[in-house]
Amino acid sequence: MMSFSALSLRTLLLLGVWHTGRRSFTSAAGLTEPPKSIAVVGAGIGGTAAAFYLRQEFGPAVKIDVFEPDAVGGRLATVKIGEFEYETGGSVIHPLNLHMKHFIEKLGIPSRKNLPSKMAIFDGKELVFEESDWFIVNFFRMLWRYGFSFLRMQMWVESVLDKFMRIYQYQQFGYSFTTVERLLHAMGGDSFLTLMNQTLEEAMMGEGFSQVFINDIVAPVTRVNYGQSVRINGFVGAVSLAGADSGLWAVDGGNKRVCTGLLYNSKSELIPAKVTSISVKVRPSKKGSSVSLYEVNYVGDSGSAHSLYDIVVVATPLHQGKSDITFSGFAPPIPSHYPGLYHQTVATLVHGKLNVSYLGTSEPASDFTVSEILTTDSKGCTINSLGCLDPVHIPNGYRRPSAGHSAVWKVFSPQPLSPEQLREMFLSYDSVSEARWLAYPTYRPPHRKTPPFILHDRLYYLNAVEWAASAMEMSAIAARNVALLAHHRWHQQVTKIDQEDLHTRLRGEL
Ligand SMILES: Cc1cc2nc3c(=O)[nH]c(=O)nc-3n(C[C@H](O)[C@H](O)[C@H](O)COP(=O)(O)OP(=O)(O)OC[C@H]3O[C@@H](n4cnc5c(N)ncnc54)[C@H](O)[C@@H]3O)c2cc1C
Ligand SMILES: *[C@@H]1O[C@H](CO)[C@@H](O)[C@H](O)[C@H]1NC(C)=O
Ligand SMILES: *[C@@H]1O[C@H](CO)[C@@H](O)[C@H](O)[C@H]1NC(C)=O
Repeated sequence: MMSFSALSLRTLLLLGVWHTGRRSFTSAAGLTEPPKSIAVVGAGIGGTAAAFYLRQEFGPAVKIDVFEPDAVGGRLATVKIGEFEYETGGSVIHPLNLHMKHFIEKLGIPSRKNLPSKMAIFDGKELVFEESDWFIVNFFRMLWRYGFSFLRMQMWVESVLDKFMRIYQYQQFGYSFTTVERLLHAMGGDSFLTLMNQTLEEAMMGEGFSQVFINDIVAPVTRVNYGQSVRINGFVGAVSLAGADSGLWAVDGGNKRVCTGLLYNSKSELIPAKVTSISVKVRPSKKGSSVSLYEVNYVGDSGSAHSLYDIVVVATPLHQGKSDITFSGFAPPIPSHYPGLYHQTVATLVHGKLNVSYLGTSEPASDFTVSEILTTDSKGCTINSLGCLDPVHIPNGYRRPSAGHSAVWKVFSPQPLSPEQLREMFLSYDSVSEARWLAYPTYRPPHRKTPPFILHDRLYYLNAVEWAASAMEMSAIAARNVALLAHHRWHQQVTKIDQEDLHTRLRGEL
């Protein structure tokens, strides 16, 4: 008996040594052949950033195909009005969005010239708050009404942002995560999971903010950024409030230029076709075992076709109304649509003269210099926001027209604007262009399980991240995460996946 158990212990030890030995040998000597071909489905910022990072991870030899039936850029889109172009989708970027910043530096695209703007809050009847040109005046107005809530809110957002920034260090060191929850946990521990599982309202009440402050100041911000109330999750809420920081920027010539730039830089091939289905095919390999490949079926102008890939990254939401890809041959099955809906936001761009009395102000239009109007969550408000829009490229000598002149205004609303609404809001107008977006998830915490980043062995899903928060930078972070994950799983480098306690372990490393 004694010798038997001693033997098996030795065998186990030997096996263990052999296993670790093989793993490190494989990755060090690169015995695993690199993948031959990778497909990316969708050419928004997520898909094009994935192509960029996949090239970085897998080197120059792998063939990368990016499928996109519509315009490159996806939810980053522009429309031409008169001689200028304007953003209709994702428009502003936070100064600490380091991936977006890195992209424009790498691609040599400048950021857009910034014009000062003034904000006001509309409750459906009148302007309940109007920013002054003077910082100190705004400061005392806020202090008078809300005490130190405003400052405390900025500190709260900053503390979330501090933890958020850890992701850049982890990714720099090559760490990746298999689920959105693990990624969030690595950044902010249990506090981030709690934040994602409660409403922004609950989170802020818990921090001692008053209901009045939340209704007056916080709700207008969530309405302009996510078209929803303070009942969105606390994490996307913090992202949204960070979007009210100063120093926000955009890309000269249009944010979508980053997508075309990344596509070109990654030397991938753009296939102008819509992916209809993805199935798994098992083929015998040379060494006698079997390998599975993914068959991607697609329809383009020249009919339907299919190709085989080693790795596939889905970079479009798998939700009702957003895409209709069928997955076949998978066990357990992969659904075409995960639970949860996308929220409609209509962006209406109107070139015309604003009716300033619509905002309940008696100021003459020529003196009205407010350019950003947010709204409170009250019955009278049928719009989410109204803003005077600058073109994607600001020519020299450009001045934003005052409300007394014709200008391009962007209205966000949950429903399309009726002709009557337009006639009430504008004294006159000569062009209206409407973009109906299924813009971002309808956030309803507490949250069920978020869709996984890994749908199957080597089939990845990037947009799962939108259930934490939907933003350009979030897609870029997910793109890098998925590229790292695809690389490490291909080469069986498990030590770079789902590591706990990275923050403490990497302290002092940079
Ligand atoms: C009105 C609006 C305002 C916003 N404001 C901001 C903001 O100010 N700042 C910010 O950071 N974010 C903002 N966002 C969010 C941001 O735009 C998105 O989070 C981001 O652009 C998502 O990029 P993505 O590449 O993941 O998805 P998408 O841009 O949706 O890209 C997916 C692509 O996949 C393609 N596709 C779909 N189905 C298939 C198929 N079957 N085969 C092949 N291709 C397919 C689609 O055509 C699309 O081009 C806003 C969004 C909207 C709509
Ligand atoms: C401007 O708005 C006011 C207030 O909503 C409205 O009474 C008026 O009719 C509008 N003006 C025009 C020209 O439509
Ligand atoms: C969020 O809350 C739901 C319901 O209360 C629970 O089932 C789920 O596990 C929670 N998720 C996280 C990540 O805490």
